[in-house]
Order: sequence, then C-alpha cells, then structure tokens
Amino acid sequence: MTALPMPDPRDPGTSPAAELLTSRGVPAPAAPQVRPRRLRRTPALRGLVAETRIDPGQLILPAFVREDLTAPNPIGAMPGVVQHTLDSIRREAAACAEAGVGAIDLFGIPATRDQAGSQAWAEDGILNRAIAAVRAEVGDALVVCADTCLDEFTSHGHCGLVRPDGDRRAGEIDNDSTLALYQAMAVSQAEAGAHMVSPSGMMDGQVAAIRAALDATGHDEVTILAYSAKYASAYFGPFREAVGSTLKGDRRTYQQDPANRREGLREVLLDVEQGADLVMVKPAGPYLDVLADVAAASPVPVAAYQVSGEYAMVEAAAANGWIDRERVIMESLLGIVRAGADCVLTYWAREVAERLGE
Ligand code: PBG
Repeated sequence: MTALPMPDPRDPGTSPAAELLTSRGVPAPAAPQVRPRRLRRTPALRGLVAETRIDPGQLILPAFVREDLTAPNPIGAMPGVVQHTLDSIRREAAACAEAGVGAIDLFGIPATRDQAGSQAWAEDGILNRAIAAVRAEVGDALVVCADTCLDEFTSHGHCGLVRPDGDRRAGEIDNDSTLALYQAMAVSQAEAGAHMVSPSGMMDGQVAAIRAALDATGHDEVTILAYSAKYASAYFGPFREAVGSTLKGDRRTYQQDPANRREGLREVLLDVEQGADLVMVKPAGPYLDVLADVAAASPVPVAAYQVSGEYAMVEAAAANGWIDRERVIMESLLGIVRAGADCVLTYWAREVAERLGE
C-alpha cells in the first residue's frame, strides 16, 4: 500500500474529501491554538505527565484459606484464584512480600459451621491459624489483615445472628447482639497476630464496638479497615463459591442499596467518627462516584475493593479473546486509583506487583 500524500490542511481542495468539501464551500479549518497531543507523543512524555500511577505497596491481596484441605483448591468462577491450605497461604504471603504488595487480607473457610459462627473467634479456628501462620512467615514485611465477619462461619451464611422463630422479628439479622461476636472475633484476630482487622458485616456501630474491645484488651495498636460503604452487590457472586457460602436470599437489610450515593458518604463519616483508621468502598468499579465523594471528604485513607465479579468478568472475556487481559486489568486499577482510592484490594495484587517490578 502506498501512503496517501499528505493534503495541505489549509487547502480543502487537496483533501481526499475535496469533492464533498469544495462542492459545499466548506472553508479550511483553522489551526488549533492549543494542542494537548503534544504531551502524548512518546512513552517518555506520557510517563512524565501521568497523573495516576499504581504502586505495588498500595495493593492488598484478598486470599482464602480453607480448613481440612490437602492441596490448594481452584475456584471455578475465579480462574487463577484458589482456596489455600495453611502451607500454600504462607508461600503466597511470602511471594506477595517479595513482590512489594502492601497487604494480604485473609478469609477463612471452616470445616464446621454453627448458628453463631463460633469458629470465627476460636483460637484454633482456621482464620486465626492462618493469621498466625502468615505472621510467622512474613513478620512485618506485609500488612496482615483479617476479614472480620461471620458469614463464612455461620450455618445460615448471614453476617450476624438471626432472630429465631417465635421472635416478633423472626428472621431479622440482629444488629446489637451481633456486635459482641464481632468484638470476640476482632480480639482473637489481634491475638493471632493481625496488624489490621476489617469489619465487613455492615452492622451499625460495629467499628466503635471493635475499637472498644481491642483497646480494652491491650490491642490499641491494631488498625481498623472499615468496610464502610458496602453495597448489596451481585458482583459478589463468585465470592460465594470461593467461601462455599450457604447463604439463601440476600443481604439487602444490612448492606446498602446500589441506588444510593449520598448514603455511602454517610456510612463513611459514621465509621470515621467511631474510630476507623481506613475506610472502604466496595465494590470498586461500579461505584466510582461513591469512591470519588468519599475520597474528597474522608480525613482517613480510603480503600476500594475490586470484588470477585469484577475479576471474573475480565478473566472470562480475556479467556474468550475478547479483550486484552493485562491492559484491562491495569486500566481497571487506574480508574479506581484515579477516582481517589489510596489502596486497592484486588485478586490481581501479586500479579500486578510482579509486573510493575519487572
Ligand atoms: C462478607 C464479604 C463478602 C465479600 C467480602 N466479604 C460477600 C458479601 O458480603 O456478600 C465479597 C468479596 C468479593 O466478592 O470479592 N464478609
């Protein structure tokens, strides 16, 4: 193919579209006075002026540890993510530290569940054992964070106690009696060695309750990452498989309505008042407006959780050859950081950190 001779931009008669232009008397366009393209000419120029960068240290890897597992177990709806054994989680944590990932957020999948979720605060419960194992492996090289919620541990799969049959409010997830269980869970996680606990159950007052319990037991140094603006999202779908959830129904009476933006900020400000050290918006990608509001108003650092469904959709499209996997991963993370997240929970944390370090 021979290149088209460059037309004279000031002479419509030399344009490949000359016939249409001249027959209509369209005058030559004026030369632009301002040229933003100047800053995009070379990779070095683009790098120089990039407003947003991803740093491995701001990434948090959510990871699953399952009791009674002899080998890591792949999660079908999250290709590349596994349920870990106590052994393999140590190796994962070490690899994260090596790659410069900022933190790991541990979720436990117990072998037995009951109505109160008592394995959540048992010293030999799978999550507490995982916390201790990971701390023994990485020390302070990685922030070791624990999910502080009952849903993986309860037989009904809800994040709190369910009011029994016969109760005037039978079937309701009871707010106030659940708080004490979160306190027990947080204290046991601190005792297992967690640097950070992360209440994700959306019970009112959970941050204040946990702060008080940690302080009363000599754990005033333990950080609280509050899942503040957490929406009742269908994007959590693959997570159900990841934790073998038994949940029937949904969490709409405690997690937020996806229709609400203002309410996200309200939840965040309440958590800050109650002593949250960091606040979170979750999911991330579909809630960038909420994230931007929170980032503008929050006096504490803001995290965003790129959830299982956001992960699964990209992996599925990439597996079909419909998108460029690596570019979409980076673009999705850039969008989240650009909207105002200081740190991002993402199942790609280690992969991205390793790529950035290459
Ligand atoms: C509940 C919890 C959920 C997720 C993290 N913590 C599920 C839910 O609230 O229904 C979802 C994370 C994901 O989808 O990646 N403790």
